[in-house]
Amino acid sequence: RPPATVWDARAVTPSSPAAQQTLTGWPRRLKAAIKGFWATCPPLSTVYFLFVIFIVSVIFHCHQRLALVPMPWAYSARVVLAPTHLAQEGLFTINSKGRLGNQMGQYATLYALAKMNGRPAFILPQMHSTLAPIFRITLPVLHGAMARSISWQNYHLNDWMEEQYRHIQGDYVRLTGYPCSWTFYHHLRHEILQEFTLHDHVREEAQTFLRALQTKWAWQATFVGVHVRRGDYVRVMPQVWKGVLADQAYLQQAMDWFRARYRTPVFVVTSDDMAWCRESISSSLGDVVFAGNGLQGSPAKDFALLMQCNHSIITVGTFGIWAAYLAGGNTIYLANFTLPNSPFHMVFKPQATFLPQWVGIAADLKQALQSGH
Ligand SMILES: *[C@@H]1O[C@H](CO)[C@@H](O)[C@H](O)[C@H]1NC(C)=O
Ligand SMILES: *[C@@H]1O[C@H](CO)[C@@H](O)[C@H](O)[C@H]1NC(C)=O
Repeated sequence: RPPATVWDARAVTPSSPAAQQTLTGWPRRLKAAIKGFWATCPPLSTVYFLFVIFIVSVIFHCHQRLALVPMPWAYSARVVLAPTHLAQEGLFTINSKGRLGNQMGQYATLYALAKMNGRPAFILPQMHSTLAPIFRITLPVLHGAMARSISWQNYHLNDWMEEQYRHIQGDYVRLTGYPCSWTFYHHLRHEILQEFTLHDHVREEAQTFLRALQTKWAWQATFVGVHVRRGDYVRVMPQVWKGVLADQAYLQQAMDWFRARYRTPVFVVTSDDMAWCRESISSSLGDVVFAGNGLQGSPAKDFALLMQCNHSIITVGTFGIWAAYLAGGNTIYLANFTLPNSPFHMVFKPQATFLPQWVGIAADLKQALQSGH
């Protein structure tokens, strides 16, 4: 028989001498009622035991549910709450602008430049809520109120590394711009790949899809992720940048490049305009899979698919560039897609955007020339 605990009611209240004394003055009926109650009630130790079981199971089930909830609050982060926690030596952050690809570029650039300058790096909450549901990023997050209370020194970055970025002055520096260039972070490639490791459930969803394709191709398939970015670029590219988008001929040429080099290439197509892809990409050879959901609001699925293919074909935009960089295979990109007098050349250096070993196919600028006249 286990020893009585303090939680055992019989051991504490009614039988103790002090309790007996106060009880003697009470009306008899009440005393009888209390006695009856204690007689029929299970000992408190049992109640306590059941309560503990209940709490443990609630925690267990909540934990299980949390694991299934993909939104930001399911992901932990180190958050700075009070000024006393701010680093004495100042800190770097970066603006959080644009969609997934842009923010990945900003994250990686902040990571690399803070390290180069020997400063701690913090991301803003918006960046955390874009990236943390997909990747196992590790940079700590500045609390929103804290970020607003700091008087930042803005520091504008071009989209390529420059010597002066190694010596950025100031205590609380907010980097700005849309950097997405390997020239900032390629020397840390290993760490960047680590930062952009997918969460298990995101990776598993893509792997399940690819495994199903593998069985169809008897485990001979070499996956080529094809990313066709259109959306707002359909208007912006000719009107603002005097350029062209990837057309049918480019995609055909890029796919033939892989068909000439691999025995069983399988092209996994994702796009923000799947309808255009279905019309424009010939699937007569039976090696094309239209896989993307094309939802810009939930890009994780498409990104995880592209990233886990063996090779890449990209068109325009940072989403494709990042998918290709992380996939790490052979990459075909659309080259020289703007006219020589395009303002795009002020903000974009192809040699800082595409890795030297990637293969460019020159765009057909006929359409841009026509609309220019
Ligand atoms: C190609 O990609 C698939 C899917 O991610 C992977 O299982 C396979 O190991 C890759 N093949 C090579 C040669 O890397
Ligand atoms: C793009 O243009 C540059 C400059 O004219 C040229 O050197 C380069 O070879 C072109 N790239 C491709 C893939 O044609």
